[in-house]
Amino acid sequence: MNSFTKKLGIAVDILMFVLLIMQMLYIFTGNTIHEITGISFFVCLIIHMVIKRKWLKALVTGKLKCPGFLRKLEVFVTCLLVICCAVLMFSSMGVSRTLFPWFKFMGSSDLHRYLASAVLGLAAFHAGLRFCVRSKKKKTVVLTILAGLAGVSIGLFGVPYLNRHFRTVTVSYAEAVTGEKAEWQGSKPLIVYFTRMGNTDFEPDVDAVSGASLLLADGKLTGSNELLADMLADITGCEKQAITMTGDKYPSGYGATVMQAVDEISSGYHPPIEPVDVSDYDSIILIYPLWWGTIPPAAATFLDSADFTGKTVYLIATQGSSGFSDSTEDIRALVPGAEVKEVMSIYCDDIPKARESLLEWVREAGN
Ligand SMILES: Cc1cc2nc3c(=O)[nH]c(=O)nc-3n(C[C@H](O)[C@H](O)[C@H](O)COP(=O)(O)O)c2cc1C
Repeated sequence: MNSFTKKLGIAVDILMFVLLIMQMLYIFTGNTIHEITGISFFVCLIIHMVIKRKWLKALVTGKLKCPGFLRKLEVFVTCLLVICCAVLMFSSMGVSRTLFPWFKFMGSSDLHRYLASAVLGLAAFHAGLRFCVRSKKKKTVVLTILAGLAGVSIGLFGVPYLNRHFRTVTVSYAEAVTGEKAEWQGSKPLIVYFTRMGNTDFEPDVDAVSGASLLLADGKLTGSNELLADMLADITGCEKQAITMTGDKYPSGYGATVMQAVDEISSGYHPPIEPVDVSDYDSIILIYPLWWGTIPPAAATFLDSADFTGKTVYLIATQGSSGFSDSTEDIRALVPGAEVKEVMSIYCDDIPKARESLLEWVREAGN
């Protein structure tokens, strides 16, 4: 490899890392730049592979010499990274809203997130391993492992946290909420939801509120779980009721709410709430945000405050990365006489476009 190709290779590698980090910061760059930097990353990847074509040829033809454990590991990690990048490319097109809206394959944003996290972790691991092998400084292998783990953690936890903390999504209320209806067979359930809106002391100036997964629906600050409740009410015609705390509300800052919630949850505090009468209903659809892997304390107060014996409780959780986590079991423990059924766990980014899935559930499994 001549010195120009070598320098080009190093420049492309550095650029790929910068692009990957920029990809992770899509909360600040916005969707269009995210998609453009995504394409740039895959172009760099192709250049990288052209530069390394001799290595690739040797691998494919079985002529690659990889003596020792570290070299074998390096080859394994590189192959895994290439596979993840290839799948990520399709998944990126699948979730694209601006450049590839016609591509309807692999449209899961969860899959996209997991793949992107894996690519970041494997890329850090791959670069570190190359350095270990070339410099023969075997001690750096520990740093390499740590860099790989840091990459995965940034993707899985850091990015979703930034997303929740800084982003306020603007949606059209009518487009998000209203549309096709579906008949609920049998007696209609009551939709009960908890959301930060109504339970938080927000400043009168909406623009001063940092993201925290809140939505500006037609300019009105709306809790994302409230939006889901509105969607379900529109689909089914069911009554809905918010869980509203009567005492102190949460602070407007996302970080401060997170810290207050952990204290409350660990001490088992159940704040007082306005009464929610469930006696006329055979089933309840409970919509809640996952807080520290469980239900918000006020949702626990609601479940604790009424008799749910013989009723069905359908669960819809919203979350920043953790599915239902422990919430289902925690709810079952609070309402032992009820049948508790998981319906769906929705990633916070997907909430504004969740109507279609809710409609499908009501049609197919919800009755
Ligand atoms: C106090 C607090 C704790 C949270 N803990 C988790 C968590 O453990 N796992 C998770 O995936 N998301 C967590 N989240 C993110 C919320 O589940 C997610 O942003 C939800 O969609 C917010 O809905 P809302 O806008 O109605 O408040 C937490 C959010 C808050 C405010």
